[in-house]
Amino acid sequence: MGEFIKVAETKDIAAGTGILVELEGERIALFNENGTFYAIGDICTHSGGPLSEGDLDGDTVTCPWHGAQFDVKTGEAMGPPASEPVPSYQVKVEGGDILIERP
Ligand code: FES
Repeated sequence: MGEFIKVAETKDIAAGTGILVELEGERIALFNENGTFYAIGDICTHSGGPLSEGDLDGDTVTCPWHGAQFDVKTGEAMGPPASEPVPSYQVKVEGGDILIERP
């Protein structure tokens, strides 16, 4: 198992929203789905839109640029125009800290 690095605190992310964090030069979108945190690549595989700025509805985030949808649990593409997944990262919460496994 890889090393986990602190990237944010739980209080930084309101429920139902996401933020952008960076880990080792990777842009990662970190979401709070009702108290559970998920991390996927921030860069939409359609044309590079910022998924951390997308609307979160349950487990699904919608790209703010052209509406592609991704599962925040797995990074899988759920709706067009994207068809390729984004990476997904292991997340751990320790106290108030959110850690992501180093890619
Ligand atoms: S860049 Fe995300 S849907 Fe086009």
